[in-house]
Amino acid sequence: MSIIPEIATVIEKRSLDKTHSLFRIVFDSEKKRDSFTFRPGQFIILSIFGVGEAPISITSSPDEKGFIDLCVRKIGRLTTALHELEENSKVGIRGPYGNGYPVENMEGGNLLIVAGGLGIAPLRSMLRYALWHRDKFKQVSIAYGAKDVESVLFRGEMYSIAERKDIKCLLSVDRVEEGTLWKGHHVGRVTDLLDMIDMPLKDTSVAVCGPPIFYKFVLRKLLDLGYSKGRIYMSLERRMECGLGKCGHCVVGHKYTCIEGPIFTYWDAINLPEIF
Ligand SMILES: Cc1cc2nc3c(=O)[nH]c(=O)nc-3n(C[C@H](O)[C@H](O)[C@H](O)COP(=O)(O)OP(=O)(O)OC[C@H]3O[C@@H](n4cnc5c(N)ncnc54)[C@H](O)[C@@H]3O)c2cc1C
Ligand code: FES
Repeated sequence: MSIIPEIATVIEKRSLDKTHSLFRIVFDSEKKRDSFTFRPGQFIILSIFGVGEAPISITSSPDEKGFIDLCVRKIGRLTTALHELEENSKVGIRGPYGNGYPVENMEGGNLLIVAGGLGIAPLRSMLRYALWHRDKFKQVSIAYGAKDVESVLFRGEMYSIAERKDIKCLLSVDRVEEGTLWKGHHVGRVTDLLDMIDMPLKDTSVAVCGPPIFYKFVLRKLLDLGYSKGRIYMSLERRMECGLGKCGHCVVGHKYTCIEGPIFTYWDAINLPEIF
């Protein structure tokens, strides 16, 4: 795969909260636009010219053709530079990289998505894929938690999904600030939502992504409830440079996260040192 970034244009920039924005990116080359495919859970390496590169998950579904959406937190040099770009600015894109979710193994069964904070970024791609191909899954549920109402990313979209009859979508926040309207389901921990989701254990794949502390509690809860270790899929972030299995920056134990990850089953991950 080429390590030369493809030139692309940021055609839309939408603020989601104080530190997160959605960027809609279109490849300048028509050929690339038509041929670009990916799996939910894969990521690209984004370049801002003169600044640097960083791995970012694709948050749109592979079924949405002609563009990719990125949900980005303003945290450091590159992501701040991205937030400062005007619409129609040029960026570079390499990829897609990583393994993504094993959708063909998940199809035919039930799907439970558990997201915390910015963890919704790769999981939104999986969610939109499952809604697009709704007939390929049995029950589909999502439990999504954030620290407060303002931090529920894609809030309007999540409220709309929660109204659908073909998916159970439960939302929680740790706290509701005074005077804030909360149309979700719970004030408390996202793990509480898992007690409210009546999902069969058999034939259920669980896709999980969130900050390290979230994993600690969510994984314990999922195991207590009896979900299968081999069907809990976690998206793990590591420092990455090349994305190609060459530089070694992303190695954990004997695994190259950029190639064999970022999606690992719980079963695979417990054998890796310092996984969180
Ligand atoms: C596979 C993968 C997918 C990702 N997807 C997304 C995404 O969809 N949206 C998004 O906003 N970010 C995502 N990230 C994280 C993003 O790549 C990093 O935050 C990146 O370092 C930002 O670059 P920067 O130059 O802005 O910040 P930097 O200057 O590199 O870092 C700024 C600060 O953030 C800390 N930091 C950097 N990376 C991380 C990290 N991964 N975890 C915790 N702290 C960190 C640094 O220690 C430093 O304090 C992903 C990372 C990986 C590996
Ligand atoms: S990022 Fe270079 S080997 Fe994985």
